[in-house]
Amino acid sequence: MIQIAIMGLGTVGTGVAKVIAENSRQIERKLGEPLQVKRVLVRRFKDGPYRQLMTDDFTKIEEDDDIRVVVETIGGVDAAYEYTKRALMAGKHVVTANKQLVAEKGCELLALARRKNVSYLFEASVGGGIPVLHPLTQCMAANRIDEVYGILNGTTNYILTRMVRTGASFADALAEAQEKGYAEADPTADVEGIDAGRKTCILADLAFGHQVDPDNVPMEGISKLYLEDVKIAERGGYRIKLLGRAVRLPNGRSAYVAPHLIQEDHPMANVEDVFNAVMVKGNATGDVMFYGRGAGEMPTASACVSDVMEVLQSSARRDEINWSEDGEGFVDPAELKNRYYFRIPGSLTIAAADFGEVEVLSEGSETAFLTEPITGREAQAHAERLRAIACLRVLG
Ligand code: HSE
Repeated sequence: MIQIAIMGLGTVGTGVAKVIAENSRQIERKLGEPLQVKRVLVRRFKDGPYRQLMTDDFTKIEEDDDIRVVVETIGGVDAAYEYTKRALMAGKHVVTANKQLVAEKGCELLALARRKNVSYLFEASVGGGIPVLHPLTQCMAANRIDEVYGILNGTTNYILTRMVRTGASFADALAEAQEKGYAEADPTADVEGIDAGRKTCILADLAFGHQVDPDNVPMEGISKLYLEDVKIAERGGYRIKLLGRAVRLPNGRSAYVAPHLIQEDHPMANVEDVFNAVMVKGNATGDVMFYGRGAGEMPTASACVSDVMEVLQSSARRDEINWSEDGEGFVDPAELKNRYYFRIPGSLTIAAADFGEVEVLSEGSETAFLTEPITGREAQAHAERLRAIACLRVLG
């Protein structure tokens, strides 16, 4: 019998217990022994199927030598950080879905895990149930990764899809995403692009091998997006999606989160509802795309339990899941060039002097058009001068 503990019994923690119970036969066949949840750390006791396993005392996990793996689904940094460090110090493997903790403290926790000869794995922290971190670091290990971008937040993708397809209001669509267990405890992190930003940092850390500090990464969500622009884009053959993007540059690396127009024939344009997609550009593979459910109880739990099984099965540590603390070489994404979408008051003649060739998407009392590639800094200056109502990047 292999015994583990779960810390936090929210959506993901509950899912982990369920996956272990529902798939016990498959898991036992692969591990050679049954997997059992021995303890569940909670802040408040509540009735339910796991009542007998609950404790509010972390030392009951820390000091129990029978517990070999701890699944951290508390979320946030404070308690999760402290208990993760103590569990690793106690020689236990730790598996997590906590993207904030990995993005902010992952480098330090990985180093501690190495010193204690245990593993710290976090496949569930990016893309929910989509296997992406393992393929990125393992199956694509022979590549230089030049770029990673994707739809990394299920809640905002769900909101955008519901608003466009069914005419739901932003508030109603968000409430539905919360009911389905997709949203963060504080959905501001979803809506303002912060959750996608943390995931972008983790992808960049692993892809480029250097710490990308979330504080340096501009994160723009969907709260300032107008439905009008979504509709103009659709009529012009584009979809608007919230993308996190990390790019290797000759002089370093850059990363940001922002809504983008995507051409409707691009595979990412039709990623809808809670689905996420991650595109990885390897110098040998070319584009590789990962697609699946990016949030929700069971998909996210699937990734956590698979990590639990991996740490129990591998004899060697996963040294490729690693990056250097050195954060030098981060380039302001305002230096990156993209085509841009503008919606401005008045006619194009006002803007004509500012731009060369443009592709007009809509004309009337306002004009919407796409520019040739310009830097983010140039786009910002044009937006201010033209009093633009909207200024968005175009992918590609
Ligand atoms: N709130 C997150 C999302 C959960 O909507 O994608 C999964 O990380």
